[in-house]
Amino acid sequence: MSETKKPVYQPNREFAATARIKNMCEYETLREWACEDYEGFWESFAKEKITWMTPFNKVMDERNFPFVKWFEGGKLNVSVQCIDRHLDKRKNKAAIIFEGDRGDKQTITYMELYNHVNRFANMLKHDFEVTKGDRVIIYMPMIPEAAYAMLACARLGAIHSIVFGGFSAEALRDRIDDAQAKVVITADGAYRKNKPYMLKPVVDKALEGASPVEKVCVIERNGEEITWVKGRDLAYSELIEKHSAVCEPEVMESEDPLFLLYTSGSTGKPKGVQHNSAGYILWAQMTMEWVFDVKENDTYWCTADVGWITGHTYIVYGPLAMGATTVMFEGVPTYPDAGRPWKMVQEYRINQFYTAPTAIRVLHKMGEDAPNQYDLSSLKVLGTVGEPIDPPAWQWYYEAVGNSRCAIVDTYWQTETGGHIVSPLPGATPIKPGCATFPLPGIMAEILDPNTGKKVGNGESGYMCVSRPWPAMIRGIWGDEERFKQSYFGDVTKEGKPVYFTGDGAMYDEDGYITITGRTDDVINVSGHRMGTAEVEAAINKHEGVAEVAVVGKPHDLKGEGIFAYIVMKEADSIGEEVALAQEINAIIKQEIGNIALCDDMVFVSGLPKTRSGKIMRRILRAIAKGEAITQDTSTLEDPSVVDKIHAALNA
Ligand code: WT7
Repeated sequence: MSETKKPVYQPNREFAATARIKNMCEYETLREWACEDYEGFWESFAKEKITWMTPFNKVMDERNFPFVKWFEGGKLNVSVQCIDRHLDKRKNKAAIIFEGDRGDKQTITYMELYNHVNRFANMLKHDFEVTKGDRVIIYMPMIPEAAYAMLACARLGAIHSIVFGGFSAEALRDRIDDAQAKVVITADGAYRKNKPYMLKPVVDKALEGASPVEKVCVIERNGEEITWVKGRDLAYSELIEKHSAVCEPEVMESEDPLFLLYTSGSTGKPKGVQHNSAGYILWAQMTMEWVFDVKENDTYWCTADVGWITGHTYIVYGPLAMGATTVMFEGVPTYPDAGRPWKMVQEYRINQFYTAPTAIRVLHKMGEDAPNQYDLSSLKVLGTVGEPIDPPAWQWYYEAVGNSRCAIVDTYWQTETGGHIVSPLPGATPIKPGCATFPLPGIMAEILDPNTGKKVGNGESGYMCVSRPWPAMIRGIWGDEERFKQSYFGDVTKEGKPVYFTGDGAMYDEDGYITITGRTDDVINVSGHRMGTAEVEAAINKHEGVAEVAVVGKPHDLKGEGIFAYIVMKEADSIGEEVALAQEINAIIKQEIGNIALCDDMVFVSGLPKTRSGKIMRRILRAIAKGEAITQDTSTLEDPSVVDKIHAALNA
């Protein structure tokens, strides 16, 4: 692939002078340390950063690779790391600044956070009988109680699994069943664009019939009417005040699970990615410090939702572990207008702002000049995450939002990596638009040739891999060891040993900078959210008229990728019915998965391009969706004429 040479932006001297990692020399020193003495590197940071109840006696154990253990013998509690240990110095410091959709505001100090979380933990323990190891589903809007719920679970050693509020009852039910959750924590609903929306009815539906869930905790947010199931549903507001604000933290082993988070794979149902206590919280804190370089009096804002890994690591766990002030926002960035985020930056004097390219594109499109109308001089670091950022979006973010003086950190990582793995360091790394730049110190991320297992050279592309286990890496897929091994360690080997493969393609440019080129598998990235084509296909197949379906991603101006479905109906003469059918099918998708999986394009075709052995040739379908010429040989297809027929259907 030939790329035009990208301009290099040097770090701002003002920030560079005080950054935690000040220049590339310091970066190299840390990297070399990790290369030369991997265990010593991690041992040193784990000792320095974590407040241990009992120190660990072994840094890592990879004898049972890919089932790796870190910091064995160590005991800690993640809620202590995030709250208790700060009370000495930061009792009255804001831990969370909350802004609601309608502009309501709340500041929660570390002392108040302690009280809320301890009460919440006592309530879960006594009224919901939650104990260590139990799974608790959190299906919540973006309100402070979502963070209290997470930290309360951590305090008790219960394993939380947050389900994004946009997922449907079916999707929620699947996750509840897979995790065999005992309790659901939810809210009546919340607000979006000044209107109430509901969550509790979705929970009711997900729990219909047999369910492992015994009790539901309902937090009141919008006060709309909901139904209460007697004996099962309990109101938070009626219970919480009764409980003491002191709850002894459970003593947890380093490798005790902290949470599960379901994410899409290329096949089958979403997988429950498991993260454990010590390694995860260590890396959450270290990357917060290095990549965002948050200072004691800074205010940091990440616009993600706690339903995604970004919300876990970079709204709740990372910022609180380092004792920072983290902003939580319930609303949407374009309401009441595309100046909302900039107004908030001005008002709270935000220093680090972290969002997804999709949001940047939308804010750019809807409010090109909006940043100009606010005082954004507090900003120092601007982050992006979730998908490749295109040059126009990058340029606008850099110039209009950052006034050409902020570092842009294009952070590359995944649900499975726990935290960033490839990212610039603000103040140190000279940045290039669209480049995640270099692996963070301690992370042996490299682009390998899948055939030879060798690192590819500058100017070449290959598979984005991590060659050694790191503390925050995924520990397993809940209940499925085999799938864990196959999903991540089945594709690439280096020197004969399997290595972690991310599923992404990447390339080094002429200077060795890493650019992520996108997934190599059947996962698509819609607005920075991962979606498995197999999941969408399974939903579409539930329509009784559908005979066959294939789903691919198609470049989309705002969303990065849109969902494009090729559908074969059982009855050939669906002509004229397309609009109605498309509506029916999208209604099913909404019910099975949620609005985030709705198809942008559906085309009804008479057949799909298949090899003689029956495999669908997705590459051809992707090319057609993009409007590209078909370059591969179609003569090996079982029926080469389907390609022309698909083109005809598209042009009809
Ligand atoms: C997938 C992971 C990481 C938290 C949010 C998404 C893509 C992520 C970047 C980036 C290009 C990126 C990859 C990855 N991705 N960050 N900076 N540049 N692509 O987490 O849902 O687990 O998705 O998002 O394709 O595999 P996720």
